[in-house]
Amino acid sequence: MQRELRFYVDSANVDDVSTLLTDHLVHGVTTNPTILERSNRTVHDIPALYARWESEGAEEIFFQTWGSTTDEMLQNAEGIRALGERAVVKVPATRAGFAAASTLVAAGTRVLVTAVYSQGQALAAATLGVRYIAPYLGRLKDAGRDGIAEITAMQALVAGTGTDVLAASLRTPHDIVELAANGVPFFTAAPSVILAALQTDVSDASAAEFDAAVQRGLSDRQE
Ligand code: G3P
Repeated sequence: MQRELRFYVDSANVDDVSTLLTDHLVHGVTTNPTILERSNRTVHDIPALYARWESEGAEEIFFQTWGSTTDEMLQNAEGIRALGERAVVKVPATRAGFAAASTLVAAGTRVLVTAVYSQGQALAAATLGVRYIAPYLGRLKDAGRDGIAEITAMQALVAGTGTDVLAASLRTPHDIVELAANGVPFFTAAPSVILAALQTDVSDASAAEFDAAVQRGLSDRQE
């Protein structure tokens, strides 16, 4: 079976997100309450952000539900689910979050369980039939853990179940490459990390040489 790989942009900075979406460089946009706050947005901005990113071509748009109980999470998830077909509801990997995820999946909602830090949580999410789990590579490493090995093991655990790893907290292109080489299919990262994955100085120098050759050829013809 052919393997699908995808980049998502993890940001609510509308200018940065727009350029990646309209250039068709990412599959969609992921957010969480911290990301919204960083761009001076609140949950009240969710409908407008969804409409904007949908119009800019995002295939999937992720917003995280909130609340301290399962009922609150389900209530707030309703507003996200109702945004449209491209909405994916993020739910934190907590006791209340797993219960909310279970109900949401049963109602046909696409769900991502986020901030997954253990194999047990990865397995539990897959038993519920969620579409994605988001382990945080950078934060696993910050905690002194072998994030690459742990996330690789999570993907192996859920592979073929309909649940896949959408890795987050990716701080360099190398983070993404290492995980992809180990079978992880989906990645979300800040705009700067996505852009860094596209760029090398030698490619830029080669492109400049190609362009110079074109220009020399054109000026020779004119003589
Ligand atoms: O989506 C996860 C992201 O918000 C966390 O990234 O780099 O702050 O650990 P980071």
